[in-house]
Amino acid sequence: MSEQIGSLLIVPGDGIGPEAMAQVQRIIDWMGDTLGKTIDTEYDLVGGAAIDAHGVPIHDDTMVKAQAVDAVLLGAVGGPKWDDLDFSIKPERGLLRLRSELGLFANLRPAVCFEALVDSSSLKPEVVAGLDIMIVRELTGGIYFGEPRGIEDMPDGQRRGFNTQTYTTNEIRRVAKVAFDLARKRDGRVTSCEKANVMESGILWREEVTKLHGEGYDDIELSHMYADNAAMQLVRAPKQFDVMVTDNLFGDILSDAAAMLTGSLGMLPSASLGAPDPATGRAKAMYEPVHGSAPDITGQGIANPIATIMSFAMALRYTFDQGDIADRIEDAVKTVLAKKIRTGDIMCDGAKQVGTEEMGTAIIAELNAA
Ligand code: NAD
Ligand code: IPM
Ligand code: MN
Repeated sequence: MSEQIGSLLIVPGDGIGPEAMAQVQRIIDWMGDTLGKTIDTEYDLVGGAAIDAHGVPIHDDTMVKAQAVDAVLLGAVGGPKWDDLDFSIKPERGLLRLRSELGLFANLRPAVCFEALVDSSSLKPEVVAGLDIMIVRELTGGIYFGEPRGIEDMPDGQRRGFNTQTYTTNEIRRVAKVAFDLARKRDGRVTSCEKANVMESGILWREEVTKLHGEGYDDIELSHMYADNAAMQLVRAPKQFDVMVTDNLFGDILSDAAAMLTGSLGMLPSASLGAPDPATGRAKAMYEPVHGSAPDITGQGIANPIATIMSFAMALRYTFDQGDIADRIEDAVKTVLAKKIRTGDIMCDGAKQVGTEEMGTAIIAELNAA
């Protein structure tokens, strides 16, 4: 007997995206063959791959499919081939359209340092051992989407590029709520990051987060930190944080910094969630690694697939209600790392260096062994 647990649109994208995604497909196959749990899976194009096929970074038909499925799993977009295209049709616009039109305002980026990888981080082992923080990045507002924006000619012959940072009460409250609710299931602490010292949008951010905190989150310890200080504190003493909540741009930067605490960008998964559907209770969702298309290592079969695999595990946990399978996948990853099987980005002395596919094989072997 097999059970269908839901529908998934996979958009592998560009560069190492498809290479890493092939390992997820093997896990999906393993779930069907071994556990009798199948996912209604469809593939489509995004980013440069969609530009090459359709002239746009994501086709309208793909957006229709993305709206209809339970979750989207994205590899990565972008690369030098498309760098000189007009801004409006760059590969990255496909990703931003998905986030925006699916209303995925809360981006959860957990940074966990696995015991086995303590030595792979560029920081001292005692600074990162046991690290477990959750960055909640606002994903559909702020300077990424604010108007006006553009590049204009000035009377004196210079050019002027401009973007607008904007946040409304509701945009701040809904993402802060996600952070408070998550903290309640974790260590009960939230650090909200902005630059209220120089930006009005930062002042509003701080005021609204504080107000919401007073409306039923007294059990959560809330602190505020300027985003530049937060960047410094992340590399100085990252374990002081439990949940961090911040805007779109600061969250982009802070989460890349946090990735290196875990050993490599190739390790960090993420979940982007919208508001729960009032009828079904299920939120629209997209899962994607934090890393990009890594043009420098594309086609060599050496990319670390773990961030993409762990993003799929997050999909199993948050969308498909299969927390037990997510646990099994995460445990398999931990065991493989403990056995010192490593891709190049997390290589260490005495470890066996493997490629993308061999890493997938090792993880599936552990799934079978458990
Ligand atoms: P990147 O994350 O692609 O790469 C940064 C560095 O990390 C590179 O040296 C790369 O080799 C390494 N790296 C990243 N993922 C790895 C993995 N899984 N295994 C081993 N090493 C890995 O960032 P970038 O070079 O700044 O950007 C390249 C392209 O990707 C750009 O077009 C950018 O816009 C795009 N990008 C896309 C996403 C996304 O799709 N979510 C995220 C970030 C960047
Ligand atoms: C990320 C990426 C994206 C972002 C780009 C590719 C649009 O860097 O997911 O972190 O800036 O949000
Ligand atoms: Mn980024």
